[in-house]
Amino acid sequence: MSIEKQDLRAVLRKVEQEGELIRVKREVDPLIEIPAVVKALADLPKIPVLLFENVKKFPGVRACGAFFGDRTRVLRSLGLPLEPTAMNNYILEALGKPLAPKLVKQAPCKENIRKPPLNLGKTIFPTKGASQSKHLYYHTVVFTKHPKTGHINMGMYRVTLQPRGQVSVNLRVTQHGGMHLQVAKEMGVPLQVALCLGVHPAVYEAATSELPYGYDEVGLAGALVGEPVEMVKAETIDMQVPAYAEVVIEGEIRPPYKLGNEGPWPEYLGYLGMNINPPLMDITAITFRNQPIVPLFVPGAIPNVVSIGNEAQLLRTLRSFAGEFVLDAAFTHGARRHHAIIKVRKTHPHHEGYQLNVAMAAFAHGSSTALDQVTIVDEDIDIRNYREVDWAVSTRCNFAKQVHILPEARSHQNNPIAGVRELSEEPIITGKMIIDATIPWAYRVAEKSPGITFFTRSSWPEVELGTYLEANDKKRWLREG
Ligand SMILES: Cc1cc2nc3c(=O)[nH]c(=O)nc-3n(C[C@H](O)[C@H](O)[C@H](O)COP(=O)(O)O)c2cc1C
Repeated sequence: MSIEKQDLRAVLRKVEQEGELIRVKREVDPLIEIPAVVKALADLPKIPVLLFENVKKFPGVRACGAFFGDRTRVLRSLGLPLEPTAMNNYILEALGKPLAPKLVKQAPCKENIRKPPLNLGKTIFPTKGASQSKHLYYHTVVFTKHPKTGHINMGMYRVTLQPRGQVSVNLRVTQHGGMHLQVAKEMGVPLQVALCLGVHPAVYEAATSELPYGYDEVGLAGALVGEPVEMVKAETIDMQVPAYAEVVIEGEIRPPYKLGNEGPWPEYLGYLGMNINPPLMDITAITFRNQPIVPLFVPGAIPNVVSIGNEAQLLRTLRSFAGEFVLDAAFTHGARRHHAIIKVRKTHPHHEGYQLNVAMAAFAHGSSTALDQVTIVDEDIDIRNYREVDWAVSTRCNFAKQVHILPEARSHQNNPIAGVRELSEEPIITGKMIIDATIPWAYRVAEKSPGITFFTRSSWPEVELGTYLEANDKKRWLREG
């Protein structure tokens, strides 16, 4: 067992040795001051990790901010390649070979065990997240157990403090944890739930990646780092939890499945979320490590390099359908998982139209309802360079024929143009769109003169610029010498 593959603390020690961790010694209020300090990092050329050692009213509890604010740091902590295609290939392989977790008898997460009467809000600090938030919440990795099959789902859902010592867990019906709850409701039985704070980055990544229903997400976390996640039996429920978690909150969502009241909070698209009514959970135990470290996410304030498995899962879905015809797939930076760019390779006249089947298949990847827009491009376009994608759309797409508006379908409430409907209890739906920016096959071969089609790009011989410049110019313009 390698401690760096299990324990967030070991990862943070390494990050500190590499000079990327700042210890904040002055007292800070977790409710709004810590999120504001994290937001203040946004314009730095490289975002460091902040370890807040003096959290107001919570002596001995530490807060960690912005760990996921830097892509290189996150990928290094997992031992993943930095180059996007190599990273996706690595994750594709891990997705195909999840590593079952390993049960251990003793675990750091049991250093402190508290049973009712409990006061979570006084034991572990919550946050408000943004100035407009009214409620106090946590970002937790939520483990739920399917009441019939026993399958364990892991997802990241927010958890809000509620009156009478309860919490509400934001398990949406279209999320896999929410599907477990639906089954429990139909059977009239409690849903067992474990909420974890401060787990290894691999567990955060697997929990936030949108994977098929029934997939072994804990197994993916193990496969990402090449070692099974060590798990230990929970105290009061029949479930296992990550042995190195900083904090574990155990409990049940019980009949008659009463609802809480929470929101708004900051969301990843930069808007505030809705006021909603998620199910209430009774807490049966809280266990935590000595001087626990509680990571804080501030969605929409700084980059959050989470859900790194999403692109690989999209590719996996598309390739299982169309094989080598699909070369690559990526989500855009601005709209994130709401807009996917897919690169295909037409090599045969019968490939014409197939790009649209691929685009439609994309809407069914993983577990997400968020994908609203798909742009398809040819093999010569760099899908991670939006300038090139824009150029392809402007020069290869006849908007009257190659833009396809699909019917309105379920979207994600965080996209306000769909989420606004939740207010009036209308379905959270929006039109879905496909932009086909691939050159139509018939035009691809239409020549304007021998060997030159309408889409032949101008080309030039390769030269070495340096050989044409004086030493001074070389130094200035090529930064050489
Ligand atoms: C910081 C952060 C907070 C999140 N909060 C929620 C949330 O409150 N509710 C929710 O349904 N999804 C939330 N998500 C998204 C889910 O974690 C993600 O969709 C995940 O794939 C869900 O797991 P599942 O597919 O097993 O349901 C959050 C993601 C991140 C990164």
